[in-house]
Amino acid sequence: MKPYYVAMIEKDVYWVGARDWNRRLFDALIPLPQGTSYNAYLVVGKEKTALVDTVNPGFHAELCDKINCVGDVTKIDYLIMNHAEPDHASAIPVIMNASEKAVLVTTKKGAEMAATYSKVPEGRMKIVGDGDSLDLGGKTMRFIEAPWLHWPETMFTYLNEDRILFPCDFFGAHTAVGLYDDEVKDLMPLAQRYFGEIMMPFRRMGAKAMEKIKGMDISIIAPSHGPIYRNPERILNEYRRWTAGETREKAVIAYASMWGATESMVKAMEETLSSEGIEVRVFNLAIADVGDIARELVDSRAIVLGSPTLIGGMHPLAIFATSLVGILKPPAKYAAFLGSYGWGGGALKQAQEMLHPTRIEIVGAVDIHGTPGDEEMRRVAELGRQLAGKIKGAGPSIASTSAVA
Ligand code: FEO
Repeated sequence: MKPYYVAMIEKDVYWVGARDWNRRLFDALIPLPQGTSYNAYLVVGKEKTALVDTVNPGFHAELCDKINCVGDVTKIDYLIMNHAEPDHASAIPVIMNASEKAVLVTTKKGAEMAATYSKVPEGRMKIVGDGDSLDLGGKTMRFIEAPWLHWPETMFTYLNEDRILFPCDFFGAHTAVGLYDDEVKDLMPLAQRYFGEIMMPFRRMGAKAMEKIKGMDISIIAPSHGPIYRNPERILNEYRRWTAGETREKAVIAYASMWGATESMVKAMEETLSSEGIEVRVFNLAIADVGDIARELVDSRAIVLGSPTLIGGMHPLAIFATSLVGILKPPAKYAAFLGSYGWGGGALKQAQEMLHPTRIEIVGAVDIHGTPGDEEMRRVAELGRQLAGKIKGAGPSIASTSAVA
């Protein structure tokens, strides 16, 4: 057993998770500039002990060592699985083997997943639903079903006596920095980035979960990634807005450009929107961080996509970005397209086809043959003003146009 310092977040409630400073990518997609953490919590009652979630592969020994610093891994009574994804559930077999009496506590859907992924036998699982609770002796764990955040089996656990909410991924942030929210500089942009990457596609289910916990007396939110909120209103306030899909007078411009034509139009669009009072975030897709784009999409009212035509369609980076919009389902209401082509178009048509299922209104497009001149730039500026009007709640929609310079 290694002599870890194990933080006690409340009396007899310990953080026994792991920090992963080296991880740079999640889901083979999302950059993690500050690594991440896999938070697990040991709750020691007078009669029983419960472990809330586990850790990622590679940290199983550290989890057991930390548990043994403040308890005994062979004597865990309950292993509460709020979520079955391996970054929180991969050590289930380790814990269940270490403690022969351990019972896995999860939702009905979670039990199916634990049987499939962790080979937990039915006789060692306890299925719980809304309002069910477990008395550990002076520590009562109450369960709240909160499905589809972001898997179907997800639930929250609430520790009645200490008013601690364990929501697993919900309210998380990918950073290995700090233990508590007030120790982490610029935490809210990290939390927003995480929301955009993980929770934004499920924000309606997130709003339902927020409704379920509304009015609860919560003193600490202890998620499974990132810092613990001992100022819970900080993150609750943001999640109320984000899950409601509240947008600002803001536009994300994401573009690819090979010879500068599309980029010059993007520049004109950015200048127009900014001068109209719209907050703008510009991402050159050749160098952009996907997580930054996801973060800015959380509260942007419009998206401007820029792409030249490359072999009859959009540039592959623009296809990727448009796919992300389809997957992440941001609350943006309006879109515009800027593009250029050398001898035959196709990018605009593909953009329209890919954006159609999102129901984001395409306010207009400027797709030009060759290099933009004064007339084309004037049209980009006009489109920018139309889009700004839409963003500010005024101004008619204009039809998509394709012009030859
Ligand atoms: Fe952090 Fe959905 O796992």
